[in-house]
Amino acid sequence: MMFKQLALFKTLFLLILLSFLSNTAIADVENGKKVAFDRTKGNCLACHVMDDGEMAGNIAPPLIVMKARFPDRAALKAQIWDATVKNSISMMPPFGKHHILTDGEIEDLLDYLYTL
Ligand code: HEC
Repeated sequence: MMFKQLALFKTLFLLILLSFLSNTAIADVENGKKVAFDRTKGNCLACHVMDDGEMAGNIAPPLIVMKARFPDRAALKAQIWDATVKNSISMMPPFGKHHILTDGEIEDLLDYLYTL
């Protein structure tokens, strides 16, 4: 009897833990989209076509199939952190280097970009 209850308790605990973890992952993606679309934050839509963003600019490559094009998360982060490393005259603001976005905001942004 005791063992059965213990097993049940463990299963319940795992289920609660799993739903908590997947909820935080969803929250990160949602926040990442806000960071990307907010004009006072990423404002990526000023230059990039992405997702369901309206009236996007087209002076930069569309942000599509991100997982296939940027399999290395660190490389994608580096691009957002400081685009001038790859292109010294880049128009893209160095979001990390110039403290436009926090590290946490950039991590959420990456979670979101990998859904595109
Ligand atoms: C003022 C315009 C501008 C803004 C705002 C901007 N970018 Fe860019 N981005 C560019 C340009 C231009 C490029 C092309 C490479 C270069 O010139 O640096 C680029 C390149 C990129 C690339 C590489 C794309 C590829 O296909 O190689 C990624 C990823 C990217 N930007 C993400 C973002 C994200 C995410 C945001 C918002 C947080 C953002 N950019 C905001 C102009 C911008």
